[in-house]
Amino acid sequence: MTNHRICLLPGDGIGPEVIKQAARVLQVLKLDLTFEQGEIGFGAYQKLGSPLPEETLSKIRSADATLFGAVTTPPNIPGYFSPIIRLRQTLDLYANLRPCQSLPHSASRPGINLIVVRENTEDLYSGVERVEDNGNRAISEMIITRKASEKIIRKAFDLAAASGYKKVTVVHKANVLRETCGLFRRIALEIAPQYPNLQMEEMLVDTCAMELVRDPGQFEVIVTTNLFGDILSDEASMLVGGLGVAYSGNIGSEAAVFEPVHGSAPKLAGLHKANPIATLLSAVLMLEYLDEFEQANRLRQAVMETIRLGQVTEDLGGNLSTEQVTESIINKL
Ligand code: NAI
Ligand code: MG
Repeated sequence: MTNHRICLLPGDGIGPEVIKQAARVLQVLKLDLTFEQGEIGFGAYQKLGSPLPEETLSKIRSADATLFGAVTTPPNIPGYFSPIIRLRQTLDLYANLRPCQSLPHSASRPGINLIVVRENTEDLYSGVERVEDNGNRAISEMIITRKASEKIIRKAFDLAAASGYKKVTVVHKANVLRETCGLFRRIALEIAPQYPNLQMEEMLVDTCAMELVRDPGQFEVIVTTNLFGDILSDEASMLVGGLGVAYSGNIGSEAAVFEPVHGSAPKLAGLHKANPIATLLSAVLMLEYLDEFEQANRLRQAVMETIRLGQVTEDLGGNLSTEQVTESIINKL
């Protein structure tokens, strides 16, 4: 059995609650895992003076994979930065994978099996911002590079080929953002012919937002730039049950960080109401990344069975606590 070193980053709010559930479940699987824990977020800032201490970065670098909970953004602290955005940029976690599949409960629409492959390091999230005219004119730069676009588009086509998908939808707004989205689009048109077994289609982002609601079953792999991917993946998550089940992975060539899409939900913290499933499905994605497909599948099946039986938290219409959902899943393992 291969040993895997897992770095756990609980963070703030409900982050520690959901990461604790994931650790409980991972220990029940037939795996040889070694856990390490790191500090991140507002709590880390208060304790250690940084939301992303150097020690945490080196723990992530030396782990085989990292599972992250969520962090709270404090109001207006000069010099404070978003540790997750910094993490994605520092470790070049260039691909954000956000799968979205129909789930066996009434709040999920049927027939959905798509994945949003979102560029994760540039675009309007590059952090190049300034104000002019005494604060009356604000500018954020949208930066798109050939290098990052090639990497993410290739990742999307490779993933489609490896996962048995037939179609890649390239989402952009090149009719208006001619330079930035135009470059992204041109690169997609260059790369697509190298994958003759996959169909490439293009879609404008506003059309895509509409089509996701109208007929989500038409989509397989969606590849897009950072901001569009952020919004479209949150939208897609609502088609199958919302933030309590939305999961993701940030993949780079030297590190990978898996996380629920939701934030720290401060209003839920301490109430035992946080849905742990988004984090558990993030753990499934992490196990697949570690080539532990059999145990990943076991965990996915146990989660699906728990949802099917309605043994879920309030957000999915159930009345179980965070811990009870975990116990229900562990029983099925
Ligand atoms: P949020 O995702 O924390 O909460 C949005 C809504 O979803 C709330 O109604 C919340 O109760 C519900 N929700 C979230 N996770 C849930 C779960 N596991 N089970 C059941 N319900 C759940 O987003 P919000 O309220 O906009 O932000 C709260 C804090 O989280 C802010 O400080 C924000 O900056 C931060 N945030 C952090 C993220 C991260 O760490 N990656 C991502 C998004 C927000
Ligand atoms: Mg988001």
